[in-house]
Amino acid sequence: MHTIDHIGIAVADLPGALKLYADTLRWVELARERNEHSGVELVFLGSAEGTTIELLAPLHEQSQISRFLADRGPGLHHICYRVPNISTELQRLKKLGARLIDEAPRPGARNTLIAFLHPQSFGGVLTELCQYTAE
Ligand code: CO
Repeated sequence: MHTIDHIGIAVADLPGALKLYADTLRWVELARERNEHSGVELVFLGSAEGTTIELLAPLHEQSQISRFLADRGPGLHHICYRVPNISTELQRLKKLGARLIDEAPRPGARNTLIAFLHPQSFGGVLTELCQYTAE
């Protein structure tokens, strides 16, 4: 419970970032998805040992990632924890006073349900929960 599923990193130059991780860490691309609604392209990279990062690149200027990059530049964006039941977990955290960005789970990449929690509730770290729906 609550193992880290991935670490999200905002990038302005996706091909450049892919080359960086391939050249330096020899990480390989595991999955790639475009979310037109959120205006973001997601690329999951992994090591042979099973650690995963998620690169988030904007598809257009109105994307949330574009705003993040304009405010803070490329870098750490969020940490995602894997949970067995995301609905139960969201309710539990809400009762504890956590500020939810997503009041209900929504479909995420790679056959998951996801929900984001506000950085104010997690020591300044944007936090994502995910539950795999098909593995
Ligand atoms: Co994520």
